[in-house]
Amino acid sequence: MRIDIITCLPKLLESPFSHSILKRAQDKGLVEVHVHDLRQYSTNKHRTVDDYAYGGGAGMVLMIEPVSACIDALKQERDYDEIIYMSPDGQLFTQNVANELSIKTNLMILCGHYKGVDERVREHYITREISIGDYVLSGGELAAAVVSDAVIRLLPGVISDETSALTDSFQDGLVAPPVYTRPAEFKGWKVPDVLLSGNEKKIEEWRFQEAVARTKERRPNLLNDSAENS
Ligand code: ADE
Repeated sequence: MRIDIITCLPKLLESPFSHSILKRAQDKGLVEVHVHDLRQYSTNKHRTVDDYAYGGGAGMVLMIEPVSACIDALKQERDYDEIIYMSPDGQLFTQNVANELSIKTNLMILCGHYKGVDERVREHYITREISIGDYVLSGGELAAAVVSDAVIRLLPGVISDETSALTDSFQDGLVAPPVYTRPAEFKGWKVPDVLLSGNEKKIEEWRFQEAVARTKERRPNLLNDSAENS
């Protein structure tokens, strides 16, 4: 998979891709992440990429010229399965959306900034708009990192225990059951006996019951959603 991210704040995206699982995935050649600085595509000498909104009002708008120049340049190199725009009014990002994106080959992500981007970009280039939640961030960069992380960890070979991503919270419509590690007792607080029993069948049953109970208690909407989707 290849992910191209377009931003006017490329430095903001250096760290998320330079550590842990996302770094290893790139080192292993399982994903290529390229961050493109929108200012490099500015058509004026001050390298500005934003301008006042027509009709007035507070806040700057990303201009169509640099965005178009950058997207066109990237599209000349390869075909993109999706050109995504990160925006609080996009489709809510869920595990299902991450699963869907994880089987694509080339993704492009445009990070919004300021008051957003000239609407003509959304009309003519963008194939999908994604929001990571009902709150407003200063820009789309952190949201793009969230989406990339959730997608990359699903790629075959990225997580060493192959079944690990499949047993994540949400993959089966349930939140994850509790987990414990050594010591078996700390300050008198004990790990449930069943986990120390060595009985795999009983452990599986316990984990499933705990996951269902936890989902009912914390995220009952997930149970309703899966009933509606089945
Ligand atoms: N840009 C600003 N807020 C955002 C959000 N909640 N999701 C995606 N992109 C955003």
